[in-house]
Amino acid sequence: MCGIVGYIGKRQAAPIILEGLSRLEYRGYDSAGIAVYDGERINIAKAAGRLKILEEMTHNGETLSGFVGIGHTRWATHGVPNTVNAHPHYNKSETIAVVHNGIIENYIGLRKMLKEKGYEFVSDTDTEVVAHLIDYYYKGNPLEAITKVLHRVEGSYALGVIFAEHPDQLFAARKDSPLIVGQNEEGCFIASDVPAILKYTRQVTYVDNQEIVRLRGDHMHFYTVDEEEIQKESVTIEWDANAAEKGGYEHFMLKEMYEQPKGVADTLLPRIKDGEVVIDELNMTDEELLSVKKIYIVACGSAYHAGVTGKYVLESLARISVEVDLASEFRYRNPVMEEGAMVIVVSQSGETADTLAALRESKKRGFKVLGIVNVVGSSIAREADSVLYTWAGPEIAVATTKAYSTQLIALYLLALKFARVRKTVGDKEFAGMLDDLKKLPDQIEMLLSNKNHIQKFANRYIGAKDIFFIGRGIDYAISLEGSLKLKEISYIHSEAYAAGELKHGTISLIEEGTLVAAVSTQPELFAKTISNMVEVKARGAFVLAVTNEGNIEIEKAADYVIYIPETNPCFANSLAIIPLQLFGYYVAVGKGCDVDKPRNLAKSVTVE
Ligand code: M6R
Repeated sequence: MCGIVGYIGKRQAAPIILEGLSRLEYRGYDSAGIAVYDGERINIAKAAGRLKILEEMTHNGETLSGFVGIGHTRWATHGVPNTVNAHPHYNKSETIAVVHNGIIENYIGLRKMLKEKGYEFVSDTDTEVVAHLIDYYYKGNPLEAITKVLHRVEGSYALGVIFAEHPDQLFAARKDSPLIVGQNEEGCFIASDVPAILKYTRQVTYVDNQEIVRLRGDHMHFYTVDEEEIQKESVTIEWDANAAEKGGYEHFMLKEMYEQPKGVADTLLPRIKDGEVVIDELNMTDEELLSVKKIYIVACGSAYHAGVTGKYVLESLARISVEVDLASEFRYRNPVMEEGAMVIVVSQSGETADTLAALRESKKRGFKVLGIVNVVGSSIAREADSVLYTWAGPEIAVATTKAYSTQLIALYLLALKFARVRKTVGDKEFAGMLDDLKKLPDQIEMLLSNKNHIQKFANRYIGAKDIFFIGRGIDYAISLEGSLKLKEISYIHSEAYAAGELKHGTISLIEEGTLVAAVSTQPELFAKTISNMVEVKARGAFVLAVTNEGNIEIEKAADYVIYIPETNPCFANSLAIIPLQLFGYYVAVGKGCDVDKPRNLAKSVTVE
């Protein structure tokens, strides 16, 4: 959500900033802007819509000459996505420019106060308040002015600020919105995420909450909000820059679907040693694991769907009670949490505001929190008591695929670990399950190779108005994710229903030709789901079934069947989701949608 890039150094700033912003497009945005100091004044160029418009307007940055600048892609929160509301924002004399990611929650009061002092506002944004407030406190010392502002603002922010009077400095600050800084021989950089600056440096420093950075061309200084200088360690980014490129695929989403076998193998195999599940990162002895009385899984979106699967698998294998919650609900519902419980938060980005808040709430109440996180060094990874990383690699497409698949693996591993210490699974069964897990990467590969058939089928539905997904138990969890994948990128209305719940209302929406995707991978529930398929078919639905190889009985109730290879029913999600991801993808491609950057969505939801 919103992307920030800034540069100060020996090279022209604008092309570097625009390039960096293009690497952050995946975060979701609806306008873009850039401010560069040209030796006399700060010039700003902004445009609503795609970054391309800004690039064309500035001839890829050539018309904005200067060695220090800040840029921004805005995902509108306060004020419509137009040019005026786009960042950067000036102070009244246009000598200070600000970009911001996050929400200034007390902006109404601050705006009123500033208006009373004669400040005029041109935009509807909360960010403009920051520009004027810096101006208000600025008496020649930029660091002092920024620290005063940070004491006044409430909410979340990653900020980039430049001052015409101090063109040798670029300032950045952060609270609850991601921000990194980096340096090479030619200059220093700020960015919301690593891909923006990976071309220039692999040495990055994560800015922590309520820290300020003063960057010059050749060094960076870190401060607390009380202006005390602090020392910080940089980390080396190990991943390959190509990992954040499309690599010949039409979309990042397609590439990332194809990276699932590798992500699954990387997350799984190092944690299976000598026939046992070894999760060193848990930092818990078997006795401590045994003492866990209950598990809460908290997450948003697809990560929540992975959590729903995790509940079924943990309860089934380890016979431990699991509650799954949407982070946005959990954080405000004052949950009654059982003593001796463990909290698991699941997040690809590690920056999702609600999930982070749920983590903090749990820690405040004295619960240990395990993060299942993909982005190394992200806020959730740093604040959780322990982290089980999913090794999916950088995920760029807004619609998650490979991160979701690796989250499932992390949850299966935990379920098996708990099952082992709780002795709820016999040795033979356990060994069989490890074998099944190890087969998943190849089986996923095989399902992906079936993409042409699914594309053909998907093409029939590019004009669909509504599509329903049904399933029971784990199949319901798969349906939730299949439905989200489809709707978020194709804009076709879709709902997922627990199959048995359909006739309590939603079945009235079924019309002649409505597509109902029925997921049926749990042998003990086959007959029940078939009954639900027959019910919708009798009302005119076209039924697509996703089921296990050999379950040919289903052909009597389905119009089209996709078979998945044999695995333990607990792991069926990892296979059944593949054709559903492909289906959503190809419907969206067929409709000509912007698959990697669906409208209104952001990759990392850093505001509530
Ligand atoms: O980064 P996170 O895993 O915390 O993100 C959670 C959701 O925002 C995310 O899964 C979202 O639902 C995706 N658009 C789904 O494809």
